[in-house]
Amino acid sequence: MVKLAINGGEPVAKDLVNLVPRWPVFDEDDVRAVVEAIRGGRWCRLYQGSYAERFETEFAKYHDAKYGIAVANGTVSLELALKTIGVGLNLGDEVIVPAYTFIATASAVTEVGAIPIFADVDPQTGNIDPRSVEKLINERTRAIIAVHFGGYPADMDELTRIAKRHGVYLIEDAAHAHGSEWRGRKVGAIGDMGSFSFQESKSLTAGEGGIVLTNSDELADRARLIHNIGRVIGQPGYIHYILSSNYRLSEIQAALLLSRLRKLPSEVKVKHENGKLLADMIKRTGVVEPTRPDDRVTTRGYYYFVMLYRQEELNGIPKEVFIEALRAEGVPVGVSYGPPLYRQPAFKRENLAKSVPRYILERMPNYEELNLPGAEEFARRELVLPHYLLLAPREALELVVAAIEKIKEHADELQPLVSKLKVSDTTIDVTYHRM
Ligand SMILES: Cc1ncc(COP(=O)(O)O)c(C=O)c1O
Repeated sequence: MVKLAINGGEPVAKDLVNLVPRWPVFDEDDVRAVVEAIRGGRWCRLYQGSYAERFETEFAKYHDAKYGIAVANGTVSLELALKTIGVGLNLGDEVIVPAYTFIATASAVTEVGAIPIFADVDPQTGNIDPRSVEKLINERTRAIIAVHFGGYPADMDELTRIAKRHGVYLIEDAAHAHGSEWRGRKVGAIGDMGSFSFQESKSLTAGEGGIVLTNSDELADRARLIHNIGRVIGQPGYIHYILSSNYRLSEIQAALLLSRLRKLPSEVKVKHENGKLLADMIKRTGVVEPTRPDDRVTTRGYYYFVMLYRQEELNGIPKEVFIEALRAEGVPVGVSYGPPLYRQPAFKRENLAKSVPRYILERMPNYEELNLPGAEEFARRELVLPHYLLLAPREALELVVAAIEKIKEHADELQPLVSKLKVSDTTIDVTYHRM
């Protein structure tokens, strides 16, 4: 008799782990590139024709941007973008950010001495809702940060219009969106500045790393200066034009990124096609639905494949139990970040008092009172699969669907688990290939 794997049955997707490539993916070209950089003996970018310089040029070109400034990670790249446009120079500066994202989108704002203001998100995509943004703009607003959640571009038409109308900067947090396109144009430099992460789990990675993109000559020059502790790259000696920090990326990471970048376009293509297939396939299960399609999204470079859970279609079984059951069947499913950011302990007054200066804290809203319907709904319903699953053959996608179908068919077996099951951590399973 067929039983759910969570109740001791045979996992229907047990072969999935052998079909999904182990992330991070690399090949001998990448190994050679790193060895070459090491042997070259220049491990810091402060020389002409550095790996970092070449990577900046190549990545900017791939992302339809004029300039790139490579940095140590995708958190400081946001800080660099904010500093470049002058956020934090005036007391009380505000930056509108989505309520549902990785915390760096908001913590970068406080790190540069400004105040994050949470906008609601579209419950169908997890992306910042332009209508909510517009309501929050006031004379203290300096910028809007849009996250392309999971790689699905935010509504750049509306956001650009709002930013222009109110004279505020638009920053794209594209940490999830390598290769994503909005109306045929790559994201990252559609707004004034864009920020990417090359942390280990991302679609392009060197373990850590980040980049800022822009089309503005002036912003690029300023970002370069800030990222190099106020020094002009190429100018000899120790002349520092502004007080700043060191955001630079190491040459060894830049060499790896340059090598991995050659594979990115073809990987993006495969993931885009497989993403479309999987979206169609999971829709038919009725238990989960894909994010809302949008013709203006011409390419989806994935970080997460986001699905929305339909609890009512599974006899009211809570999402956490569904996740455990699907994992037991062999699917690396999880949630992305859990609750909306305003519910994070870091946004409690007592904890803010430990991380932001008093004169800023006094001007901050009471985050604990927030309850944004779109963010709450998205948090309640979202489920994610990792992007590298979309690099697997079609057979793998079919196993994911088979696992969902199996759970749907045997949903009554889950009922007794609802009160008993101890759910440990529902965030996406990073140990998938390491157990
Ligand atoms: C939306 C978003 N922004 C920023 C970051 C920060 O990037 P990093 O981990 O490279 O600092 C991440 C990382 O996961 C992210 O998901």
